[in-house]
Amino acid sequence: MSLREIFTYPNPVLRKKAEPVTEFGEELQQLVKDMAQTMYDAPGIGLAAPQIGVSKQVVVMDNTDKDEENQLMVLINPEILSGEGSLTDKEGCLSVIDFEAKVKRFSHISVRAQDMEGKTNEFEADEWFARVIQHEVDHLNGVLFIDRISSLKRALYKKKRKKQLQKEALEAA
Ligand code: NI
Repeated sequence: MSLREIFTYPNPVLRKKAEPVTEFGEELQQLVKDMAQTMYDAPGIGLAAPQIGVSKQVVVMDNTDKDEENQLMVLINPEILSGEGSLTDKEGCLSVIDFEAKVKRFSHISVRAQDMEGKTNEFEADEWFARVIQHEVDHLNGVLFIDRISSLKRALYKKKRKKQLQKEALEAA
């Protein structure tokens, strides 16, 4: 297992549509292990493969509370089959540093995804759980939560990020 670098906005890998997984072998298992380790280390509640620079349709999540035992969920080639209702709540992202904003999402979704063995499962998700899945599936389509907020808020974030990057560049020089 190894800890992987998390790529951040505006890295172009975050904008690429991820490729479907077709081989369910050792390589996939290794990728999932690295993603899980990277997510728990961050810490985050979800991570999509493009966030570590791997353009594949793989998501890891852990929706349990801090005081509960970890329960890793792995979604391969996930698809949102349908959605209904709407909820607006704050979101953040490991690839969008130091920023949170309210995002409107379906409150209930039906999902189809494969597991690590390639077996297809269908299930329903509500509220926060549904939100995390929608956020992660967006990553696989090259979409970030800042694409789903007002253009004014997005402009503010872009300005803030630009300043951060300039500061980093100066410090590195
Ligand atoms: Ni994210």
